[in-house]
Amino acid sequence: MEQYVIKGGIPLKGEVGIGGAKNAALAILAAANMTDETVRIENLPDVRDINALIEAMRDIGTRVDRVDRHTVMVNGSCVENCIVENENMKKIRASYYLLGALLGKYKKAQVPLPGGCNIGSRPIDQHLKGFKAMGVETKIEHGFIIAKAKRLHGAHIFLDMVSVGATINIMMAASMAEGNTTIENAAKEPHVVDVASFLNSMGARIKGAGTDVIRVTGVQRLHKSDYSIIPDQIEAGTFMFVSAVTGGDVLLHNVIPKHLEATTLKLLELGCKVREYDDAIQVIGPEKLHSTHVKTMPYPGFPTDMQPQIAVSLALADGTSIVTESIFENRFRYVDELIRMGASIKVEGNVAVITGVDRFTGAHVNTPDLRAGAALVIAGLAAEGITIVDDIYYIERGYENLDRKLRQLGAKIEKVSGEKEIQKFRLKVG
Ligand code: EPZ
Repeated sequence: MEQYVIKGGIPLKGEVGIGGAKNAALAILAAANMTDETVRIENLPDVRDINALIEAMRDIGTRVDRVDRHTVMVNGSCVENCIVENENMKKIRASYYLLGALLGKYKKAQVPLPGGCNIGSRPIDQHLKGFKAMGVETKIEHGFIIAKAKRLHGAHIFLDMVSVGATINIMMAASMAEGNTTIENAAKEPHVVDVASFLNSMGARIKGAGTDVIRVTGVQRLHKSDYSIIPDQIEAGTFMFVSAVTGGDVLLHNVIPKHLEATTLKLLELGCKVREYDDAIQVIGPEKLHSTHVKTMPYPGFPTDMQPQIAVSLALADGTSIVTESIFENRFRYVDELIRMGASIKVEGNVAVITGVDRFTGAHVNTPDLRAGAALVIAGLAAEGITIVDDIYYIERGYENLDRKLRQLGAKIEKVSGEKEIQKFRLKVG
């Protein structure tokens, strides 16, 4: 089991390149199955979730050839069956995007019902509601969703809550349904827009992505495309908080500042300086962070995927802050780990009351989920002494070369496995 070991207390300075957006790439890879022609996708992040979905696609017969670490050629013309195997779904929830893609093209699909995960129950009832409205019959047998449609037709769908996954999945199926589909109360995240742009580049007819009403006119066939994934605003935001928490000065390349507005505004409230450029953003952390309050919301609100990162920052700010998590029901699991580092946080339901402390001290902590793991790394970078972060498998699901990128900024962090390598690190850093 690999770990990160970190010696904290160093202000991180320098430049870092941000990779492609994992949550856009997962849906775009699935959507690439919807044409029989070859699709070239670049700026893919080389992370576990992406590689797991590529395996799941190969298992159903899709050809996926790697051009380089961040570029693939996909050809879905030889899909033999539309049955996604269970172990792939266990590795990656987003295999459910193959539902929308395969239903659109083949009018049938069989995908394991994704379990909950460590941030909440994460049902997919809204996905199924949309598919049913489009004429899809679904049943659940032996843990699989078995879906098929005699005739996949357009529908007027009103989502009960803003759901990124349901918006994208329904948009994919609607792209090749007969007639028109309207999705009301649609998610507006940048990755929803990126998936719509990708589908349109293959000949789909989607309008309104990025607003809460998306209109789709189904087409019979989709064609090849050569597409580049947008930058990952969550990876970018994570590095912005790295600079804020360590009192650093970090310039991030390959970002879209517009996608980071809610994060930037909060960093300004925390006392950071933020300079925006066309495709870069610079964050300078203050001597002492200021407290503030934040509530996670669907885009363009403050992203739930940045909630652990801002909570760590507020735990080192002056004064008391309140963090409200309105998207997932169990996204404060990292708090107990932070308390072991000296944080003073009280969680009541979906609200965390954070009393800022002067410093963290390094500790041995566990990673409960992807973004919480990144937040614990940030805490380790700020802490006095040595922090060991276990279960970094979760972190590598969504961050490519996190330790290497942090070392480029001056961090003393290494990926190790076992006590011997930890001792070696301790001797090296003193
Ligand atoms: C996507 O998850 C992201 N994952 C999540 O990022 C992100 O936190 C989330 O959107 C919100 O932005 C991917 O894109 C692969 P939702 P998704 O459907 O689509 C409830 C990360 O760290 N809901 O927008 O699953 C749901 O339980 C991950 O990269 C239903 O009740 O999120 C949640 O409370 C973590 N029924 C809320 O809606 C449904 O059918 C929003 O979920 C669907 C969702």
